[in-house]
Amino acid sequence: MFVAIIASFHVIASHLTVGAAWFNFYVERRAVREQRPELYEYLRKSALGLLVFSYVWGAMTGVGIWQSTTAGNPRGISTLIHNFVLFWGSEWYMFLIDVVGIIVYYYTLGKVDPKTHLRLALILALGGTGTLSLIVGILGFKLSPGDWLHNGEILSGFYNPTFWPQYLMRFLLMQTITGAWGVLMASRLPRDFPERQKVIRWAGTIGLVGMAGALLVGRYWYWANVPARSKALLSTNAFPAVTVDLLIGGGILTAAFLLLASWKPQLQSKLGAMALFIVMFSTVFGAERTREILRKPDVVNGYMSSNQLTFTGLPARGIESEEAKLNRDGVLGSLPFLPAADDIDSGPSPEYTDHRVAVGRQIAIFECSGCHSVSDQTVIHLGDNQLALRQQSALLRKISANDEVSIRAILDNLGAYPFMHAFVGTDEEKDALAAYLAATVEEQQGPPRRCRRPR
Ligand code: HEC
Repeated sequence: MFVAIIASFHVIASHLTVGAAWFNFYVERRAVREQRPELYEYLRKSALGLLVFSYVWGAMTGVGIWQSTTAGNPRGISTLIHNFVLFWGSEWYMFLIDVVGIIVYYYTLGKVDPKTHLRLALILALGGTGTLSLIVGILGFKLSPGDWLHNGEILSGFYNPTFWPQYLMRFLLMQTITGAWGVLMASRLPRDFPERQKVIRWAGTIGLVGMAGALLVGRYWYWANVPARSKALLSTNAFPAVTVDLLIGGGILTAAFLLLASWKPQLQSKLGAMALFIVMFSTVFGAERTREILRKPDVVNGYMSSNQLTFTGLPARGIESEEAKLNRDGVLGSLPFLPAADDIDSGPSPEYTDHRVAVGRQIAIFECSGCHSVSDQTVIHLGDNQLALRQQSALLRKISANDEVSIRAILDNLGAYPFMHAFVGTDEEKDALAAYLAATVEEQQGPPRRCRRPR
């Protein structure tokens, strides 16, 4: 959830910087060709807004994504780095052009020859597009690694089946965010400013065209390349219905706003455009969440599971499947971050006095917490309220699995659910997990937990 919230801010800010660079290039080109210096007033407002809002937010949330994903799934990030470090290195050169570019662009506006400045606008737009070209390959890889799964070739992973459609789709979608931005910036100009309505009309139209194009590309090209197993997930419990409402509702509201902007530009106000950004945030949140769910139960589709184990090997790169070995030797003590069974329960105030339950708790945190609230540790506390996501004890109670025996039977069949992998570890570890889950179910049914926990 943290990753998704940070990522939604980042998507809006980053897509805006690239899209707006192209829109500003377009506006500036008209200003130069048609000799309309008033348009520079819009460009000045937009460039300063981008510098302060988009670049600052984009950079901060970019670092935020690195930090939260590294904390959340270190081995997933490690896989990406081991494959794409040079692509990320190149991306940072593009960032350099992009970030220095906007500063140069803003501070030289009106101070250098218009033709030179127009060239700067083009360099800025190309630099931004360069960052897009590089990150799309890495993002697409996680959902559809394609031939990389067999040949281990980095270029096969980068130019994966969803690379080109996602590239085009994002480029078009950027125009929608840019359209809303253009309306917001132009509506800050005085109402009687000569070019105000014209810019709002252009922005609304470009936003609409981008949206229509993105929908077409998404439906017919991108979707055709999403792995079949991922598509099937959309009709399971893994995909919350509210996500669809967010996507459809947000899409309709955005389209209606842009339509109104290009039809009646004189009606637009700052407040309306700001409200649209909030709507777009929830739409993007829905879209990002869908993209993440599509990959479940893996972090790299078909290679590494959400709990960070490689369940298929990659012989081309000499990588073995970890699961067979862990089923034989057990997960405890075999992996970094996971203590051996004997080392558990030796703290000064163990949460659970029963050793098997304490061991089971470690296993639940390792194998289930990627997607479930498995203990108080992965529940968000807001005052007296708890935000528990797919809480295991609640799910077990719902299917009347209240005791160790019935929970154990479910653990035997976990792999039958399309959104979960089979349990990994020895039979003893599976028993311990069942014991812990039974304890949490019992606890939830009993009196409040705090009173019962040994001091
Ligand atoms: C990759 C994500 C993921 C992981 C890891 C995961 N689950 Fe799940 N699990 C889900 C989803 C999604 C659901 C469906 C939630 C719902 O019904 O609202 C689910 C549902 C369940 C249910 C309810 C099943 C039903 O029939 O209603 C149980 C029990 C469960 N998980 C146990 C586990 C256990 C035990 C582990 C760890 C060994 C685990 N899960 C790991 C994603 C995951």
